[in-house]
Amino acid sequence: MTALTLSKTSATAVSADALVIGIVKGEDGPAPAAGVPAPAGLLTEAAGVLAILGAKGGKDEITRLPAPAGTTAPLVIAVGLGSAPQDGEDFDPETLRRAAGTAAHALSGTEHAAFALPGTDAARVAAVAEGALLGAYAFTAFRKTGEDDRGPLARVTVLTAEDADDAGLRAVIDRAEVLATEVARTRDLVNTPPNALTPADFAAHATEAAAEHGLSVEVLDEAALREGGFGGILGVGIGSQSPPRLVRVAHTHPEADRTIALVGKGITYDSGGISLKPAGHNETMKCDMAGAAAVLSTVVAAARLGLKVNITGWLALAENMPSGSATRPGDVLRMYGGKTVEVLNTDAEGRLVMADALVRAGEESPDAIVDVATLTGAMVLALGKRTFGVMGNDDTFRGLLHDSARRAGEQSWEMPLLADLAEGISTSTIADLKNMGERMGGGLVAGLFLKEFVPAGTPWAHLDIAGPAFNEGGAFGYTPKGGTGSAVRTLLLLAERAAAGELAGQG
Ligand code: BES
Ligand code: MN
Ligand code: ZN
Repeated sequence: MTALTLSKTSATAVSADALVIGIVKGEDGPAPAAGVPAPAGLLTEAAGVLAILGAKGGKDEITRLPAPAGTTAPLVIAVGLGSAPQDGEDFDPETLRRAAGTAAHALSGTEHAAFALPGTDAARVAAVAEGALLGAYAFTAFRKTGEDDRGPLARVTVLTAEDADDAGLRAVIDRAEVLATEVARTRDLVNTPPNALTPADFAAHATEAAAEHGLSVEVLDEAALREGGFGGILGVGIGSQSPPRLVRVAHTHPEADRTIALVGKGITYDSGGISLKPAGHNETMKCDMAGAAAVLSTVVAAARLGLKVNITGWLALAENMPSGSATRPGDVLRMYGGKTVEVLNTDAEGRLVMADALVRAGEESPDAIVDVATLTGAMVLALGKRTFGVMGNDDTFRGLLHDSARRAGEQSWEMPLLADLAEGISTSTIADLKNMGERMGGGLVAGLFLKEFVPAGTPWAHLDIAGPAFNEGGAFGYTPKGGTGSAVRTLLLLAERAAAGELAGQG
């Protein structure tokens, strides 16, 4: 993990391999961003060179230039911030987070960079720190390390104003470090290939993380799942050589007055099962456990930050494979809690494992439930690859998730659970439910299916992260290729807001 420090050294005097500055679009070419903890001389001199180099100052543009005389760092990286904010306003934190991430990503192979981006209040210093750490990520576990390997940026120094409040900033920086480490945990788990991360491997990782951070953990193995009647998780996992697991991992605080349950879809590989996915649709399906990874990361982060709220995570882990023992289209499964489901498409497996875990989570009567799942391709069609859908049974709670995502710098959109679409899943001739309804509105149908397994009266939100969980395109901002860590920042902020008394009926 990239090391992070704060410093009040001036940008010209700081000793680092590179100095990151921000520039904005000006009428006569790029202009140095105002409010930077850097001497004006350095910035005006750099701005002159930047114009010659063709820099414009547009968002995420990167320009490298040799440092002007009098600057200790040999290299200046100018990152575009777009248009300058209106008079009296500051850059919004997400602009700074992305710019810092773009710069950190561009600096891979560099040892130490100092960031002199505009904004000196805690929220903006935090955004720069988060963006730099998130952008410096690389997944190298399965690569031989050669001599010319460009590892991620190793050391980040964020420059702050001379009159900065050290104690206040320290807390913000500690949080940024925990957040970035836990987002990286989710990215690592998602990027790990499915032959190296079976349900048992994932459960072992959770058990280790729990021991390291003082969480309680329980793992139900295949025998325990059978004993307990978890027909959904078993039915999905039955075709695989690597048997399923259900993990409960919990952070508790002695003074907490609220408990949130987080339920994550943990399909370590989704082949589709007997309803096999065609080539072109299965190459990235190691990402189908991204929800469970985000849940684990959030519970660990809550523990590391000592949040005054109880967070219980449920990881529904299975591998969806075709074989002679696999569930067939036409089979009926008895879910945990007793409801029966006719499986018409074994590729709609996420809702089956989630149903069991939701019922089990609900038994503990949490104050609210959030589930996170790479659930449907339909949600990707609806919202694109960078935005997750938020559904639920309670407008206020759904809004709280959407608002937390916005504040955390994640894109989300509220989607309705329309009653007429429920007909499709309720018309089995043999069981209580079908696992597939209408194709049109498929993301909402899946949400309606999950709703059947949530205790009535418990605020519940469903995040369908099928789009943003895995980035098949190039890196952008602080988002790398591959696993992104989608939903971790949103869920951590939700936990913090619950700890601060912001759940409905609190305080
Ligand atoms: N894991 C997939 C959803 C998915 C799609 C995740 C693209 C990430 C990227 C899920 O299990 C699935 O296969 N859903 C089916 C449901 C259908 C059979 C009702 C889908 O969306 O096609
Ligand atoms: Mn599937
Ligand atoms: Zn799936």
